[in-house]
Formats: sequence, structure tokens, C-alpha cells
Amino acid sequence: MTEKTSKTGFKPTLGLFDATAISVGAIIGAGIFVVTGIAAGYAGPALTVSMLIAAAVSIFTALSFVELTAWQPREGSIYEYAYQLISPFAGFLTGWMWIISNTFAGAAVALGFANYLHALFPVLPQNFVAAALCLLFTTLNFLGIRQSAFFNNILVTAKLAVLGFFVVYGFFHVDSANFASFNPFQSGVFTAAFYIFFAYGGFARVAVVAEEVKDASKTVPRAILLSLAISTLIYIFVGLIAVGLIGADKLAQSNSPLTAAISVTGNLLAVYAVSAGGLIATASVLLTAILGVSRMVYAMSRRKDLPQKLSKLHRKYNTPYYSIWAMGIAMVMLVIFVDLTKVVAISTFALLFYYTLANVSALKLKTSDRLYPKIVPFIGATTCIGLLAFMLFAAPQAWIIGVAGLAAGTVYYLLKTRLFAAF
Ligand code: ALA
Repeated sequence: MTEKTSKTGFKPTLGLFDATAISVGAIIGAGIFVVTGIAAGYAGPALTVSMLIAAAVSIFTALSFVELTAWQPREGSIYEYAYQLISPFAGFLTGWMWIISNTFAGAAVALGFANYLHALFPVLPQNFVAAALCLLFTTLNFLGIRQSAFFNNILVTAKLAVLGFFVVYGFFHVDSANFASFNPFQSGVFTAAFYIFFAYGGFARVAVVAEEVKDASKTVPRAILLSLAISTLIYIFVGLIAVGLIGADKLAQSNSPLTAAISVTGNLLAVYAVSAGGLIATASVLLTAILGVSRMVYAMSRRKDLPQKLSKLHRKYNTPYYSIWAMGIAMVMLVIFVDLTKVVAISTFALLFYYTLANVSALKLKTSDRLYPKIVPFIGATTCIGLLAFMLFAAPQAWIIGVAGLAAGTVYYLLKTRLFAAF
């Protein structure tokens, strides 16, 4: 026998640094390196205000995750909470949407990485590079969470160093005239906050691997809050400096706004360093996407919501290797065959869907398990529903695809429970 079942469980090996880095790895990526430009187009020089608003919205949902993970740190996180606190069907749909969202997002960042690399080395075919990166990180995930966490720590340290460099070096080239029309009281600031919200997605990634974290009921909540605090600080400074360097209009015109901003310094090395930051950031988002998706699939199959084989743990590496390879290969297929341009909006729809259910789950916690007054998850749920309603007008296609995803999940669930109960 080369494998053991999940009954024996994972070994908790991750400390606070690893745990925080997993969430920071998932958060800081395409959002700050690409979506900043789109947001600057709406908010103008008040971009940083939008970043603060998006952070304020995120903190309420993050606090719900803090309560839930302190109550019961479980592999699969929000799938488990919605399953236990709302209903098994709500749990299934949450896990299902989580998998769809992060599989597509993973494929999209793999292509983002390939595009960045293509800009530096135009000889490499993008789909091939994206597929190779997915395979590489799938193998790393297969070999063990410690190996993945170690590599992720390096990527996270490197991307924070690049963004730190951007802020400090950029500061000396800021032109205050770029803030001349600063106006935080215009509707574009809120539209920009909606787009920037994507950039904060991922703060609860560590919760999905909770059973692999040491002293999880304390470490996971701390890691969630730390990762959100670190990302907020970084985003605010990066937003200020990016506007100060080239102004909001020029940021809005660029697909790689931070590279465009730093190029005003005329220092080619700085331009390469910031481009490398984009590569590193997208790579770490992909690494944590494969990690998270495989654990969500594992958790769902452990409860027989997906084929049970997927919950087998490898005897030597202690990883859910069927889940890892199944999802890694799904991402490879996506980057080879599918056009992923609409992924940001779809991913944000799914994100808001399961954040809403996280807040509803937190609302259902018993008073004795509660850390904060009910108003906290209530505001979290209301803000997420408000953003979903906003999306109906801002990105109706994402709603159509998102509802199709929910319908597909419902059909699968009905077939599974009614027709293939023994499956
Ligand atoms: N927050 C992640 C990113 O910005 C999804 O790439």
C-alpha cells in the first residue's frame, strides 16, 4: 500500500510565518500589478481612498473567518462551515464555487505570468509556458506542503521586497502635481473600490489548509489578520507612489501600471525589477491556488461530496495527491484550450458568493463560540451582497456565468444524492 486515507489526517507542520505567507501569497498578485490601472481610471488621484474602502469591506469578512477558524480549524474552511452551520447543500455549493473560482483564477494568473515573461523573452509560446508552470507547481504541491510553503515563503519575500523597493525608490521621483485633482468624494472612487476588492481576495487561503497548521485555532486567525494588514499597508503606499509617479490617467492606460510608473525614473534596472515582481507575484498566486483547490477538493471528497478517491493521502508525502494532480491537470487544460479574459469578474462573483456564506455561517455561530458582536458578520454579509448587486450592473456576464456555475453544481448535487448515492 503506498497511500493512507484521510482518517489518519494531516501532520500540522506550518508555523505563523508560513501560514501568513500562504495568505499573502494568495493576495498580492494580478490585482496590484494589473487591476490598479483599471481602478485608477475610475478613482483618479484618489486611488488610495478606493484601496482603503476595499480594505474596510474586506476586514468584516476577514473577522468572520477569524471567528470560524478559531471555533473549528478545518481543512476546506468555508465548505465545512457552510456545511455544518447552514446546510450540507449550502456547503456543497460553496465548495463547488470555490473550486471553480480558484481553478479559473489559477489558470488566469498562469497565463498572466506567461504574458509578463513573453514581454521579456518573446520567443516562448505563452500557453506552453503557462502549462509548464502549472505542472511545475503541481509537482511541488505533490511533494509536500512544507516544500510548497518553503518556496512560497521565498516568492512572498521577493515580491514584498520588489513592492518595498517600488515605494522607497519611487518616493524620490514623485511629482506632487499628479495629485492636483485629488477628489475622494466622487462615485468613481466606489467603482474603483469594487475592482480593487479583487486585489484583496485570498486573505483566508490559509484557512483551507488549517489542519496542516500548528496550533491552528490561534495561528490561522492571526495569519488571516496579519496578511490583510500587510497587504493593505503595501497597497496604500504602492497606490500613492504609483499615482505620484505618473498620474492616474497614465496608470489607467497601461496593462502593467506599476512598470509604467517606475519607468518614469529612467532607471532600466528598476523597470526590470518591477517587471520581475509581476512574475513572482503571479507565480505565488498560482502556487497557493493549486494548494487551496486541492485541499478544497480533498475536504469535499472526505465528506463524499466529490468522488472519495480524491481524499487519499500519499503515504510518503502526506499530500492529497489525487486531488492535486486532478486539479493541476484541469488548470493545464484550461490554459491550453480556454480564453480566460473574463476571469477576474467571474472569480470576483464566486468570491463574493462564498464570502457572503462565510458571514452567514459566522452569524449562525452559538453565542458561546462568538468572538465579536453579530453586527460584524452582519456588516460583512451586507457589504458582500451590496457588491454582488453592484456587479449585476457593472459585469452582468459574470452573473450569467456565475449562476450557470451554481446551476451546474446543483445538477451534480442532485444526481449525486438521488442517482449515485453509493458513488
Ligand atoms: N488577490 C489576488 C490577486 O490580486 C487574486 O491576484
